[in-house]
Amino acid sequence: GPAVDVVDTEADARAPEAEDAAPPAEVPEAPAPEGPPLPSEHPAASYTLHVNGVDRPVTDAWIGESLLYVLRERLGLAGAKDGCSQGECGACNVQVDGRLVASCLVPAATTAGSEVRTVEGLAVDGEPSDVQRALADCGAVQCGFCIPGMAMTVHDLLEGNHRPSELETRRALCGNLCRCSGYRGVLDAVNEVIAGREAAAEETGSGEPEEPRIPHQAGPGAGSVQAHQQDGGMA
Ligand code: FES
Ligand code: FES
Repeated sequence: GPAVDVVDTEADARAPEAEDAAPPAEVPEAPAPEGPPLPSEHPAASYTLHVNGVDRPVTDAWIGESLLYVLRERLGLAGAKDGCSQGECGACNVQVDGRLVASCLVPAATTAGSEVRTVEGLAVDGEPSDVQRALADCGAVQCGFCIPGMAMTVHDLLEGNHRPSELETRRALCGNLCRCSGYRGVLDAVNEVIAGREAAAEETGSGEPEEPRIPHQAGPGAGSVQAHQQDGGMA
């Protein structure tokens, strides 16, 4: 249109003149530094994580990197998924010293010296765990993105509570979002695992394999960065 033509013409007319008139660039001298150098805004750290029973050194990592980032990008353990990076979806769930955490919210350096267990560590003798098999058998896996986090949550639930009610299972799973609406399959999978473990225990006559521990999984909504003021996180 005409407006564009006018602008173009003026720009063309000015451009050579501006180049001719440009003074030689001068680099201003940097002010001499005074006192000791300020600490870097991105301090690096080297530390060793203990992941699935193996020492995994991490070198020159930014001190603020999340456990999720370090697992995936530095250690090649891509099982934990980055669904939201803010503690809302559960796709990144791992255990740190037996406690379920959203690894996207945990600075990796703070877990040096702890036992980190990821979905890669659930397999038994190279075979998927009973929970992983049940999730597949019960049709819980659609796109699969949420499943590593679901598997970690279900393992964590059943470690603390060998026979959760459906309500207890739903509460444990309420921090795991599935965009494919696969929750029914996960509930069925939990029941299948409970039945399978009880049958195995009866076969060996060992009854309860161990004394139930005090459940340690976080309460509903506890992984959230936003406080659920209106319901105290218990809705
Ligand atoms: S990626 Fe950590 S909770 Fe969503
Ligand atoms: S199976 Fe797709 S997000 Fe759960």
